[in-house]
Amino acid sequence: MTETNGNDSNDIRGLLSGSGYSEKAINYFLEKKNMGSLSDADQVSELTGTCGDTMKIYLKVEEGRIKDAKIQVLGCPGAVASAMAAIDIIKGKTLDEVQGLKDRDIFFMLEDIPVEKTHCIRLTNKTIQKAIKEYRSNNGKNAKGE
Ligand code: FES
Repeated sequence: MTETNGNDSNDIRGLLSGSGYSEKAINYFLEKKNMGSLSDADQVSELTGTCGDTMKIYLKVEEGRIKDAKIQVLGCPGAVASAMAAIDIIKGKTLDEVQGLKDRDIFFMLEDIPVEKTHCIRLTNKTIQKAIKEYRSNNGKNAKGE
């Protein structure tokens, strides 16, 4: 868990909370616990949204399950919070389960973010779905997900 220093962090908390982010979403944004890369990733996929924000996801897959995942985000607080929450959701899940991930699952994990930030959730899920699709097409029948 990363500590952001005192006053700055409180200012950011206040700003985000005032614009409609839940405390849980703010913690995801500030802690950035799933931000980064995996040197031994089985799949790396990148997507840029229409807003210009970019996500790059790293998946480690073992026996059809997401063994580990990290994501790099160049984007807004909504993008960072969504991506961090989504990685928490998909870790340990089968590929089929991850393919069934809905935007609202990420929203529930965050508890609340501003309505105009729902497209940040969509970008997160699209990045994940792109990675699963690419993993499956790169790994053929070994990537069944069961
Ligand atoms: Fe682009 Fe949030 S504004 S993902």
